[in-house]
Amino acid sequence: MKVALCGLGEIGQIHLRAVRESGAELAAVCELDRDLAIQSVGVEVPVFSDVGELIEQTSPDLVDICLPHHLHVPVAVAALENGCDVLLEKPMAADLAGCDEILRVAGESGRRVGVSHNQVHFEPHRRLRQLIDSGELGEIRAIYERLWMGGKYGGWREDSSQVGGGLLMDAGVHRIYMAEYLGGPVQTVTAVMDNPRSEDAFVLTMEFESGALGVIQGGYHGPDGVFDDRIEIQASAGMAEILGCEAFFEGDLDGSLRLRTRIDGAWAGDPVGGHWDESVVASVKEALADLEAGRDPEVGLVEGRAAVAVVEAAYRSAEEGRTVPMVELTRGSRE
Ligand SMILES: NC(=O)c1ccc[n+]([C@@H]2O[C@H](COP(=O)([O-])OP(=O)(O)OC[C@H]3O[C@@H](n4cnc5c(N)ncnc54)[C@H](O)[C@@H]3O)[C@@H](O)[C@H]2O)c1
Repeated sequence: MKVALCGLGEIGQIHLRAVRESGAELAAVCELDRDLAIQSVGVEVPVFSDVGELIEQTSPDLVDICLPHHLHVPVAVAALENGCDVLLEKPMAADLAGCDEILRVAGESGRRVGVSHNQVHFEPHRRLRQLIDSGELGEIRAIYERLWMGGKYGGWREDSSQVGGGLLMDAGVHRIYMAEYLGGPVQTVTAVMDNPRSEDAFVLTMEFESGALGVIQGGYHGPDGVFDDRIEIQASAGMAEILGCEAFFEGDLDGSLRLRTRIDGAWAGDPVGGHWDESVVASVKEALADLEAGRDPEVGLVEGRAAVAVVEAAYRSAEEGRTVPMVELTRGSRE
């Protein structure tokens, strides 16, 4: 399979590693920073600064998109219209209309789309999902996720028109798709935030279709250097907590990762390990394998859109001071 990789920044470097490890052919890269591109892939792989030219000249089977959010839709649409499958970094698009545009063009072109929700591939998260599926925890009653960061990243992330929002649309999206991965579909969202669509701090409360409740709380206002990321689950027969994926990748914490469970009345540590970069590599490799085999990836159009829909529901809730039912954001619903 011929893969074209667009964007060789922070996450593009991990995708590059995954593409190389997968055995796929790296047919070309698209990157505005030519020095970075040559440093990353050498002189053997063609470097472009325009995705249209890249597709025309190299005919890739798959375009892997690791670009700022506002570029996800135009690049994905160009790739799909030219007969390529697509893999997108999170979030699928900077807004819900963008997700629907990708869905429409994917449907018309008959091509497949994967969305890299890498934390689904973080081993402690997968173990937790297995525990839920096995019934050992009983029924999930509450999910609590937190994201405390100390300070912001610069660059395009400072421009909410490129991000499609603030912290919730960027790092917050991981918490949303994890909430749905563990708790199933969200039914309603009620949110409070400092400055909706350009937020530095937010609290979402969610009702899941299962009847469980959820809270996602995040903010940039931690002390310098903090990146605290964790998940806790309260269920009818047990509890579980995970000290998060990104807390370790940012280096705020060291030591071994922790999944702790309380089942049958006793807390126990689970030895499952995992690292943030491995979760990204696994996510990309599995999507590539599925697309090469002509299968829809585990995370695709449905899951990608669902996460962005919860973000949009949170923005509406915070702006309008009401609880937003997710049915309002169903594709094709009158808004
Ligand atoms: N899964 C994760 O944990 C994770 C972590 C970081 C970023 N991301 C996601 O990855 C994507 C990229 O984020 P990043 O942190 O790597 O950004 P980045 O700024 O580090 O890298 C973006 C790269 O794209 C290049 N670029 C920008 N415009 C371009 C254009 N028009 N044509 C070609 N190249 C262009 C830039 O030169 C830069 O090298 C975003 O969707 C972001 O949310 C995901």
